[in-house]
Amino acid sequence: MVQASAPGKCILFGEHAVVYGQPAVAVAIDQRMSVKLKLNSDWRIDGMAFHPDRHPHVEALKQRLWDSGPPLSIKITGDIPPASGLGSSAALSVAASAALRCARGRQLRDDDWAEGWTAARPNNVYNGPWDVEKGDSVEYGESSVDEDECAILTHAVEAYAQGGRASPMDSSTCAHGGCIVLSDKVEENLNWLYSRQLNDVSWEVHSVSLENIEDVWLVIGSTGIHAPTSEQVAKVAKLLEKQPEKMREIETIGIVARRGIAALMRGEMEAVGRAMSENHLLLRSLGVSCPELESLISAAAPTSLGVKLTGAGGGGCMIALTRDPKTTSEAIELAGGRTLISRLASAGMSVDDDKESPLWKPHE
Ligand code: MEV
Repeated sequence: MVQASAPGKCILFGEHAVVYGQPAVAVAIDQRMSVKLKLNSDWRIDGMAFHPDRHPHVEALKQRLWDSGPPLSIKITGDIPPASGLGSSAALSVAASAALRCARGRQLRDDDWAEGWTAARPNNVYNGPWDVEKGDSVEYGESSVDEDECAILTHAVEAYAQGGRASPMDSSTCAHGGCIVLSDKVEENLNWLYSRQLNDVSWEVHSVSLENIEDVWLVIGSTGIHAPTSEQVAKVAKLLEKQPEKMREIETIGIVARRGIAALMRGEMEAVGRAMSENHLLLRSLGVSCPELESLISAAAPTSLGVKLTGAGGGGCMIALTRDPKTTSEAIELAGGRTLISRLASAGMSVDDDKESPLWKPHE
């Protein structure tokens, strides 16, 4: 058996606007998805026959990392509610790509990767699988797994599932963990990780250390309404087509996000909270809030530093930045929401069991 897991994410600033190249900030949360792989006589997912159209993310990864590999039994567990804006599909894809890579290993040539996706190579292209040459070696298990590769594979899969429009926000945050900032340019004060490009939009992906931020939590309130990201992203695209002047809101979200990032870097959480609440008003005017989100947001506001919807909206979840998570959580629950409490920047993907890897040796 091989097992890997990855965290969900909350967007603090910039959802939707990030799809158009504006800056955005997300943090990994304590809630995770886990993927367990075992060899099996036929393809199974959670004990049932595997239907590619029911699990398009897994199917897309299977084609990239397990093409012609032996059948697997895949078990998916986790505590991230699906279709709620908390990155459950990205966390699943990151965990599945880590588990699949761990289970098949990686071919190396001269100590360098001979196959796979890597940020170090031009345009993040897929190299190989190459023909095995004399002197090639293969790395198996946890050491063959790479966060950048899981992030880029997940971005590709998310873009496919969202009709070609997806930022690398969810994929990078669920792979690397911590706090991730996307921008249209390399930000001098942040730790630059890599560039990503999709269609005609490009993003510079950075990580930020939030280690010195203490005594503040995120309370996540779920409306219980399923709102697929693809539909919300398409809704905003339609709005901008009909009312091009709404691009002002997108740009203003970018300005607010920049203010939020600066406050986050200074550790001024009151200012971070104010920027979050402003961000919410702009999202509302893009039409992605809903009455249920508004009622959870009103309930949480009096005990919070800032409140906003998080993710694609239209249902899904809101977040409250608070120093009193218990009281804020109770207020949200009283208003009809289900709550989760998380620290601000949790750990990224991890291989949790690689004792039986490889499950498949495609290199031999
Ligand atoms: C979804 O979590 C965030 C959106 O901005 C879409 C994306 O970034 O791909 C709505």
